[in-house]
Amino acid sequence: MLIKIPKSSGCRESDVTPESLYLSRRQMLGATVAGLAVSSLPQWASAADAARYADVEPGKAPSWFAEKLPSVQWEAVTVKNEPITPFKDATHYNNFYEFGTDKGDPAANAGSLKTEPWSVVVDGEVGKPGRYGLEDFMKPYQLEERIYRLRCVEAWSMVIPWIGFPISALLKQVEPTSKAKYIRFETLQDPKVMPGQRSGFALIDWPYVEGLRLDEAMNPLAILAVGMYGRELPNQNGAPLRLVVPWKYGFKSVKSIVRISLVSEQPKTTWQSIASDEYGFYANVNPMVDHPRWTQARERRLPSGLFSPNVRDTLMFNGYQDEVASLYAGMDLRKDY
Ligand code: MTE
Repeated sequence: MLIKIPKSSGCRESDVTPESLYLSRRQMLGATVAGLAVSSLPQWASAADAARYADVEPGKAPSWFAEKLPSVQWEAVTVKNEPITPFKDATHYNNFYEFGTDKGDPAANAGSLKTEPWSVVVDGEVGKPGRYGLEDFMKPYQLEERIYRLRCVEAWSMVIPWIGFPISALLKQVEPTSKAKYIRFETLQDPKVMPGQRSGFALIDWPYVEGLRLDEAMNPLAILAVGMYGRELPNQNGAPLRLVVPWKYGFKSVKSIVRISLVSEQPKTTWQSIASDEYGFYANVNPMVDHPRWTQARERRLPSGLFSPNVRDTLMFNGYQDEVASLYAGMDLRKDY
């Protein structure tokens, strides 16, 4: 098994690194978020650390994020023996159609998105509906670093260190009613700042919508992310709040969320509405079920180029089979793709 979830037997980074080094690395990350550039890594930094953090551009973290950062549970879940994708690739090869359809468009255009103030509506089949400023919305949650594979349906992949909290913690707060069977997420709709939403050629009926079955959302791997690479989310990666479900194709991981609804019927999701024969509701990573136009058996791990394509076999459920396969027991995954 490549994934590590720290149970009583789990080994955390702080267990294998001398405490002084561990703490100074965390202080270094804190400095990044406070706005100080990390120009060089200390002597003791491992090659893996250098790859992960050397090119991280410091952001302008909102104060609630900076306050929560010292208590982040680092490497709560990680991927063994697969290097973290460089920050530059993770932030310059994106899908965020609200800002354009080329991979470089989100980095070029998403700077105009204002993520502070931000509010999130929680509604539908819940005992405690409400509209929250993001700072208040985030108050109850302990943040964790989750290093996950990200596999896009287009057959490229990355390994990203997210910072977020389990959706199960949110569900505990909002108290779903017995009628709640699915959770629906909606992205901001603001054509003034999102050029893709102004385009007459867009296939998408905005806003971008995604959803999960309630038991999928309760799985400990499913998180809402507010940061990556030790800092807050860059806009092009879905600031200030996005979904991350690592065993599903990347299009399930809806960005810049403004509404979370508990519903009784399966929500109409964006890509399924556009082409249901190509993109299913479940969208579980599955090397045995090809996309009608290409194989899903292999993937290009970024960075990849003409001379080093970095192709690898795709893993069932993106390598998270032990954690999630039971959610689909008895289902025909060729039909429910
Ligand atoms: N969310 C919104 N709102 N709009 C989008 O176009 N693209 C999806 C997903 N979330 C998308 C979105 C797709 S297809 C992928 S692969 C991932 O975001 C990409 O996330 P990344 O750019 O952070 O790698």
